[in-house]
Amino acid sequence: MTNPRMKSARREFLLLAVVAITFWPLPVRGNDTVRCRNGAVVCVSAPAADAGLKALESGGNAVDAAVATAFALAVTYPPAGNIGGGGYMLVVPDDAEGSAVFDFREVAPAAATRDMFVEKSGRAAHRRVGVPGTVRGLALAHGRFGKLSWKQLIEPAVALARDGFAVDAALAADLNETLADTPREDRAPGSQTPATAFAEFRRAFGKADGSKWRTGERLVQPELAAVLERIAEQGPDGFYQGETAELIAAEMQRGGGLITAKDLAAYQPVERVPLRGTFRGYEIMAVPPSSSGGTALVEALNILENFDLRAQGRWSPETLHLVIESMKRAFRDRAAFLGDPAVNEIPPRLLDKAYAKKLAATINPRRATPSLELAGDIRITTESEHTTHLSVIDKDRTAVSLTYTLESPWGSRVVVRGGGFLLNDEMNDFNWLPGVTNLEGRIGTPANDVAPGKRMLSSMCPTIVRKDGKNLLVTGSPGGRTIINTVLCVVLNVTEFGMPVREAVDAPRMHQDWLPETVRVEPALLEQQSAAIARLKEMGHRFAKPAVQGDAHSILIHAAQGEITAAADRRISGAARGY
Ligand code: GLY
Repeated sequence: MTNPRMKSARREFLLLAVVAITFWPLPVRGNDTVRCRNGAVVCVSAPAADAGLKALESGGNAVDAAVATAFALAVTYPPAGNIGGGGYMLVVPDDAEGSAVFDFREVAPAAATRDMFVEKSGRAAHRRVGVPGTVRGLALAHGRFGKLSWKQLIEPAVALARDGFAVDAALAADLNETLADTPREDRAPGSQTPATAFAEFRRAFGKADGSKWRTGERLVQPELAAVLERIAEQGPDGFYQGETAELIAAEMQRGGGLITAKDLAAYQPVERVPLRGTFRGYEIMAVPPSSSGGTALVEALNILENFDLRAQGRWSPETLHLVIESMKRAFRDRAAFLGDPAVNEIPPRLLDKAYAKKLAATINPRRATPSLELAGDIRITTESEHTTHLSVIDKDRTAVSLTYTLESPWGSRVVVRGGGFLLNDEMNDFNWLPGVTNLEGRIGTPANDVAPGKRMLSSMCPTIVRKDGKNLLVTGSPGGRTIINTVLCVVLNVTEFGMPVREAVDAPRMHQDWLPETVRVEPALLEQQSAAIARLKEMGHRFAKPAVQGDAHSILIHAAQGEITAAADRRISGAARGY
């Protein structure tokens, strides 16, 4: 029996908690979660989130803050933050008028050919580099929306590179692991890259005395600071022309890469109309091709709309089965049809509700569909991820969702000599073996073959969910093909299952991408839902080794209260800032 004094104490405590939550002055800050009224930035690195917050507090808007954060991440999160890579920025004002996508995906150099990766000898690190898009992409978005000066937005990044910053525990561990794994002699594993290609990487990111990085030690990048200063002074020409372009072209020549000064001068980002879908009365805004992200996300949601997931419960085997089967079908179409829209006709039906209904009808509620049954006319041959995401909201509730990447963690590990920055290995995202689609998950359909000037297919999926004509959720993630499914999980958690954003980001995730046939779940899902997993196995699902999935820094807007919650993903080392 409960003691009446305890009962009354509990009542008083609850009353106090309610009063505290209601009247506590905002912002309420933790390093990884912030609740505030005006604006917020959330990303993987604290100094970069600080740079974005500074832009907001100085009267900048969400695009200003995203640009400042992205340049700072190029310094403080070198595994994926970049000026030598590419990505996508989605900008949605609160009324959605004038929304835009900035596609700054890298392109293949003019000398690239369809079969350039067929021979293993042609796969050296320098040949995997696509023409970088980030600097012109951020400049295009800033030119369209920015309020603060370009120079002002790059200054925090210059200072972080010039004066250094304290590496956090996650970055110290990543640096140590990557340096230990970067070949010093012989050849890079699995490629034909001479180890000399990585000497500059070790010089830029290794410690002078060769010892291991420890949390709190400062990483100083003077050559990167000089490049950022040129970009701040000269605009994007400070990267694509003149001294920086010459350094990149020289690095390419030294390592047998294909990019020339002409490729750099010719690079252009593209402004696109955002892709729109709906899910149970929520509006989904995302990016169209050249990324497959938005299309596959909306297709999977359209399929799932045909089932009452809420009634089954978030973690029931029924719900998990339907989500896996929807992922499988959306990824089958991704493989069949998606590639650079400049050279591919993308069938409009992929976004169509009636088509999704037909796909939903092919799901057997009691049995996993073997992936091969969905192949259709894709011929299967029987022979035999790193990115980062940031979300921003400003006081006018304009939302920015930005995902950009070097492709692999630390990209190609080629650091431009004299420039101190990493180049991507984005050419990996083209089909390497034209015509070869196999059970291991290699895709060889024509839509994504290599061609000069072509954008390689991406899975990046910066997404903004809207409700009642207003922005509600800003999200996105890194993770290669898993990106789409991470975003799908977060969107379902918020919309279908009504989770608060902190819980929606923390909740375990899973991934199925048609081929390979296996489902990958996070270790936490395996531990917490072992009975559901056992049932899924009985239904015919096979599971790959569990792995942590994504890094989905997200923001939820509480329109009725005039408040915002920014929730950093804690899987790597996220930071939420707001005011
Ligand atoms: N490089 C990861 C992606 O674009 O999907």
